[in-house]
Amino acid sequence: MAIERTFSIIKPDAVAKNHIGAIYNRFESAGLKIIASKMVHLTKEQAEGFYAEHSERPFFGALVSFMTSGPIMVQCLEGENAVLANREIMGATNPAEAARGTLRADYAASIDENAVHGSDAVASAEREIAYFFSAEELCARTR
Ligand code: PPS
Repeated sequence: MAIERTFSIIKPDAVAKNHIGAIYNRFESAGLKIIASKMVHLTKEQAEGFYAEHSERPFFGALVSFMTSGPIMVQCLEGENAVLANREIMGATNPAEAARGTLRADYAASIDENAVHGSDAVASAEREIAYFFSAEELCARTR
């Protein structure tokens, strides 16, 4: 099993509903360690930069508007197969299709306000972690 790092966002809807602690509990219960974490309120430019690969998609404006509508929690998670493990914890992008017991099934209202983001591959995780955290902010968790 590979020890990986992945990038996670608790989106404005879930922060507003006070679900931060419940969501962190899911990560930790699944064996993922939070090795960096902070609350930020994205500017329009920061959100557009983070989601640049989706800039041509019809929902891009709505996605940027939502992601700048309130504070978010950003975190780096570390653990065995962390990228896939976090995707499984989150559930499908559309909460209507998310499996029971996943974060989106439990905490998301719709596809455009879907509670959490998680990197889809190791390469995108590295890029996304670096977008929000300096190397010094990533804390080694040896025990
Ligand atoms: S994914 O998870 O990246 O494979 O999903 P994808 O379908 O490619 O969607 C990319 C991000 O856009 C969000 N999304 C939407 N936002 C607003 N409205 C609609 N209709 C919509 N469809 C998808 C989706 O949640 C992805 O954001 P992140 O932050 O990666 O979850």
